[in-house]
This record gives sequence, structure tokens and C-alpha cells, in this order.
Amino acid sequence: MGLKKYKWHKIAGEAADIQWTKGDVAEVQVNGKTLCLGRFNEEWYGFALLCPHAGAPLTMGYIDGACHVVCPVHSLKFNLKTGRDTNDEGYKLKTYPVEVRADGVYVGFEEGGLFKWL
Ligand code: FES
Repeated sequence: MGLKKYKWHKIAGEAADIQWTKGDVAEVQVNGKTLCLGRFNEEWYGFALLCPHAGAPLTMGYIDGACHVVCPVHSLKFNLKTGRDTNDEGYKLKTYPVEVRADGVYVGFEEGGLFKWL
């Protein structure tokens, strides 16, 4: 299996520009689309705005103590690294890598992936 290639999009000029909720989630815009960021142990993760179970906005969820985002509606938990739900119910949250660089914060979108809208 080859390494994934990403196209990186700048979402903020610096890390301090990101507005976090009390649940350690942030809403960000990328080319007119809305995504979420989550932070856990100094690492940042990107993921889809809407829960893959029934579409709840994950900006209203929170990051737990084990690197999961917890949905605010039915409390399914999704691993921020893999997107898999912890109950193994088959729901998968789309995730994106995040890099905090000297010149800003970037989210990576897989090149050649299904999401051509970026
Ligand atoms: S809408 Fe997220 S767990 Fe049901």
C-alpha cells in the first residue's frame, strides 16, 4: 500500500486564530466548506462536520480522554485518528490530517480521493 498524498489547505494564519469550544472542538472553513478540528494531547485532528450516524453537528460534541470525538446526540464515539466508531457499528467519520506550521494551520485532503470539491 503506497503512502497517501495530500493537498494542503491553509485554514488559519496561526494556531491562536482557532476558536475552540469547551469540548476542544473547533469549526473551520475550507474553500467554503465547514469542517471540524479536535485537539487531544497537543495533537490536532480534522474531521467532518456532521456525524455519520444521523447527521448531528459534531461542533456540539467534545473530545474525550481517549482521542475520540463524542457525538452530542446519541453519544457514539469516533476515533480521531481512524474515524472508526468505538462500538464497531460500522459508522466511519471522515478524517483529515492537520499540521500546525510556522506560517499557519493546514488541513490535508487526500489527492485523487472521492472528495473532489476542494
Ligand atoms: S447522530 Fe451522532 S451518534 Fe447519532
